[in-house]
Amino acid sequence: MNIKKIIAIASAKGGVGKSTITALSALSLSNDFNIGILDADIYGPNQHIIFNIDNLKPEIVQKDSKKYLKPLVSNNIKIASMGSILDDDKAAVWRGPMLSGAIKQLIHSTDWGNLDLLIVDMPPGTGDAYLTVAGELDLDGVILVTTPNRLAINDTIKSIHTFNKLNVPILGFIENMNFPSIATEDIFLDKNIERITQIPFDENIYNMSITNTQNLSDEIKFFLTNIINA
Ligand SMILES: Nc1ncnc2c1ncn2[C@@H]1O[C@H](COP(=O)(O)OP(=O)(O)OP(=O)(O)O)[C@@H](O)[C@H]1O
Ligand SMILES: [Mg+2]
Repeated sequence: MNIKKIIAIASAKGGVGKSTITALSALSLSNDFNIGILDADIYGPNQHIIFNIDNLKPEIVQKDSKKYLKPLVSNNIKIASMGSILDDDKAAVWRGPMLSGAIKQLIHSTDWGNLDLLIVDMPPGTGDAYLTVAGELDLDGVILVTTPNRLAINDTIKSIHTFNKLNVPILGFIENMNFPSIATEDIFLDKNIERITQIPFDENIYNMSITNTQNLSDEIKFFLTNIINA
């Protein structure tokens, strides 16, 4: 197993588009590279739904007397999500240590094979999941997602502090569902964080026909290709 680069897609605010952008990013690269998605949202996993593989269960394989989960594959992307393993209601009331245990298991017991890039779809917040992912994975960096809304921007600034404390490089941010009247530039230029792209509110994305929206992720593709090749 060899994973060349690992990045996380994160935001403290929920519902700003982390999972969508994880999927769009993976799709933009999957013709040219070996891409994996680790859905680290244990309470609300989404990747198996976005890729329409929620009826499939991963195979278990034995390697050197250890059991591994074979990630599910969609559009040439390897996907590991608690949503493919547990029934929907199972993880809902887990406490922090169980949550961390589940993330560790997904990280260490998935048979990724060789990947150019593993993209980690983070849950909202800045809590246990962040500590676990940053502690267990050698992250090359994190991409923050925000909407151009004061509350989302405030929460994003909070997550900048979290990642600085965890020594995870912040690669840039994506402004999702952008809205012309509110500028995120000022805030982020001030903190020296690059805006990778702006994605408009898009009907195809909203209806989860994300394979029809790859033109929206050209800039993300360019940005991530440079990271893979760095
Ligand atoms: N650019 C967009 N245009 C239209 N709809 C979008 C866009 N981005 C995301 N959405 C929709 O907004 C909702 C939230 O997106 P998503 O689930 O990706 O956010 P999230 O940050 O991962 O949420 P959570 O914090 O719950 O994990 C979804 O219904 C998604 O389809
Ligand atoms: Mg999500």
